[in-house]
Amino acid sequence: MSRSVLVVGGGGREHALCRALSQSESISDVHVTPGNAGTANYATNHPISASDIDGLVSLSQTLCVDYVIVGPEAPLCDSLADILLEHGIPCFGPQAIHAELEGSKLFAKEAMRRANVPTADYMVLDSSSDIESALSSYSGNPWVIKRDVLAGGKGVVVTTNAQEATDFINDSIQTDGHVLLESFLPGEEASMLVVMDASGFVCLPPSQDHKRVWDGDKGLNTGGMGAYCPAPVVTEEIHRKVLERIVKPMHESLSGMDVPYRGVLYVGLMIDEHGDPFVVEFNVRFGDPECQVTLPLIASDVGELLFAAATDSLDNYSVSFHDKHCLTVVLASEGYPQSAKKGRVILGAELAGDADDAWVSHAGTGTDDSNTLISTGGRVLATTAIAPSLAEARVLSYQRLGMISLQGSHYRNDIGHRAL
Ligand code: AMP
Ligand code: GLY
Repeated sequence: MSRSVLVVGGGGREHALCRALSQSESISDVHVTPGNAGTANYATNHPISASDIDGLVSLSQTLCVDYVIVGPEAPLCDSLADILLEHGIPCFGPQAIHAELEGSKLFAKEAMRRANVPTADYMVLDSSSDIESALSSYSGNPWVIKRDVLAGGKGVVVTTNAQEATDFINDSIQTDGHVLLESFLPGEEASMLVVMDASGFVCLPPSQDHKRVWDGDKGLNTGGMGAYCPAPVVTEEIHRKVLERIVKPMHESLSGMDVPYRGVLYVGLMIDEHGDPFVVEFNVRFGDPECQVTLPLIASDVGELLFAAATDSLDNYSVSFHDKHCLTVVLASEGYPQSAKKGRVILGAELAGDADDAWVSHAGTGTDDSNTLISTGGRVLATTAIAPSLAEARVLSYQRLGMISLQGSHYRNDIGHRAL
C-alpha cells in the first residue's frame, strides 16, 4: 500500500509527524502545510496557513491525498475534519463536536462527568457570582482558574495570590461571560496519547512534558520546554488504572455517539500520592513536544496506524513499540514565552543533523532571502534522541544541542530530571 498524506501545521509536532511518515512503508508522499525549514527535508511544504480552512480543503483536493493529519487544535475546532469528510477525504483529527473537548473546559468536564472519569471538582463563575466566597470555598491550596475558550496555552492560572486570582476571574468573565474555578490536584503530571476511532483505541507510551520555562520547574508556563517517553511515573499499576478509569470509559462514551472520534485524545494526567490518576485536561491532538518523543517509539508503520484511525479500522491493527527511551530538549528564543525575538540566524543545526539515534526537530524556523536558517518563533527547534536508556538519550540530545547556536536563546538543563 502506498498512500499520500497531507499534514496540517508547522511546528515541532508536525516535523515529528513528517519524519515518522517519511519512514513509513505505507506512505509514498508526505505533504505539509505550512511546515517549516525542517519538514522540507521529509515532505513537500505548501504555503497554506493552518487557519485557512477553505485553502486546506482545496489543497487536499488538488493533491488528491489519501488522508489528512491535523496537527493543531484550532482547525479541528473550526470544522476542518467535518468539511474534509463531506468531500470524502479521511481525516486524522476529530470533528468539531469532539474538538470541544479541548475548545471548552466546561464541555470536557461534562463529558468526564457523563463517563464517570476522575477529575478535579469545579464551579462555574459568572457576573452574578460572589467571587470572594467562591475563592474562600476553594482556599487552602493554590486556586486553579480556567478560561472556557481556546487560549493558546494562556487560559489557565494556578496561583496562591488572591488578588491575581480575582483579577483573572474578573477579566475572564468580562471577555468570555464565565470562567471555571477548579480544586487543586496535587501530584505529578504525565501525558497519555490515545489513538482512537469508533472501533478501538491504542494507548501510546506515557510521556512527561516540562511546562515551566526554567530549570527546577520555575518561571512562567510555556508550550513545553522538553519531554521524554516513556515516563516511569506511570507504573504498570497506574497504567491499568488509567485504562480502566479513564481511557475505556471515554472511548465507550465517544464511540457511542453518532459521530465517532477519529484521531488522538491527549489525556493530561495528574497522579496523586496514592497512585490514583485524575484528568487535568483533554487535548484533541498530539502534544507538542510529547509527539516528538512518542512517535519514534512506535515500531509499527505510523502512517498505517494513523490511516487506520482516520478510517475506523483500528480494531484490525496491532501496534508494537521499541523498548527504548526518547528525550527532546527545546531551544527557545530570547524572551520566550513572553515576547520572543525572531529573525535571528541559527548556526550548527545541519551539523547536529539527522541520524537514526539523534536529530534536530524544527519548530519556529525558516530561511531568509539568502537561504540562511533563521528563527521565526518562540520555540525554535529541539534536539531529540532515542537510546536504550533515558540517561543515554539525554546525553545524546544535549550533545546535539551543544552544536547549535542562536543569539539570546535558552533551554532547560534538567529535562528528564524526575526520571533520572
Ligand atoms: P490545562 O491547560 O488544563 O492543562 O492546565 C495547564 C496546567 O495547569 C497543567 O498542566 C497543570 O500543571 C496545571 N493545572 C491545571 N489544572 C490543575 C489542577 N486542577 N490542579 C493542579 N494543577 C493544575
Ligand atoms: N505540551 C503540552 C501540549 O501540547 O498541550
